[in-house]
Amino acid sequence: MKGLVLSGGRGTRLRPLTHTMAKQLVPVANQPILGYVMRHLADAGIVDVGVVVAPETQQEVRQYLGDGGRWGFHITYIVQERPLGLAHAVKIARPFLGDSPFVMYLGDNLLGSGIARAIEDFRSDGPDTLIFLKKVADPTAFGVAELDAEGQIIRLVEKPKDPPSDLALVGVYLFNPIIHEAISRIKPSWRGELEITDAIQCLIDMDAMVKGEILDDWWLDTGKKDDFLAANMTVLDEYTIRDVRGDIDEATTVEGRVAIGEGSVIRESIIRGPVVIGPGVEIADSFIGPFTSIGMGSRISGSVIEHTVILEDAEVVGVQRLEDSLIGRHAVVRRGGRNMKALRLMIGDHSQVEV
Ligand code: G1P
Repeated sequence: MKGLVLSGGRGTRLRPLTHTMAKQLVPVANQPILGYVMRHLADAGIVDVGVVVAPETQQEVRQYLGDGGRWGFHITYIVQERPLGLAHAVKIARPFLGDSPFVMYLGDNLLGSGIARAIEDFRSDGPDTLIFLKKVADPTAFGVAELDAEGQIIRLVEKPKDPPSDLALVGVYLFNPIIHEAISRIKPSWRGELEITDAIQCLIDMDAMVKGEILDDWWLDTGKKDDFLAANMTVLDEYTIRDVRGDIDEATTVEGRVAIGEGSVIRESIIRGPVVIGPGVEIADSFIGPFTSIGMGSRISGSVIEHTVILEDAEVVGVQRLEDSLIGRHAVVRRGGRNMKALRLMIGDHSQVEV
């Protein structure tokens, strides 16, 4: 069984962050999403991993993953010159995949439970394809499955205007090599992409055995700001272990599950978990509330922050209350001087500010 991780695409829904970084590297609870994906594959005993990358972001993805030794992998990089779809990615990965069965894992998807058990079921049950489904509030943003009374998949549609159900296709797929035959038969969709959803529909039309399993655990597609904050909240809630390092003064209170990295300096503040603070962070005279992650090297002072993700080397100064926010690398949010009512902004392309 091989692994195929898709780490290309443009990440338009997470702009402006993705103007300067691959969406799969945006950190959730201070760890790149791709790190969780790799861990799931490693836990499932996968060793041979192909990573599909885009020319624009491949360098940083390669830098983060390296040769995969950290997870016990042998990684083969495959460059997808243009974002022509998930099925197109499988097509160009064919020399790597050969005739091996494989698990395809979208690098921006986060799953609560791993995939080890699913891979075992796939091996013993022997379907041609195993997909995962999850109820979502807005199925129009996903591939959607229609099931019959027995729970068998009868139809799959990509981003339907009029969804046949609320069961979305999760971004993890287990395939036998018959998928390559299906991919060779499909045409690009209205969005100009070779859709994996259409290829699986083609398998159903070919009478291949396609099994759908409804996920019990959580699944998060980290595509947009609110989804991303929800992902951060879930991961902080599930995984934060109290591990307080750094230099913390007596006037500071650290409550609950809080992780603070080496070299951080905290003065006269309250930190209430679940919270993850990276190494080398400076915090003074502030309240850092639940579900907040603060990236390496950031500086916070005189501020109240809750349910927010702050990436590396950002600065928040004198902000009375910052909530439900996503602050990019090297960004500065600072209370102004004399005229307290005026907003002075310098905002990057595609940014959003609510005042
Ligand atoms: C892709 C798939 C879609 C699936 C989703 C899961 O969508 O095409 O069927 O539900 O991933 O994350 P995309 O991210 O390309 O919009």
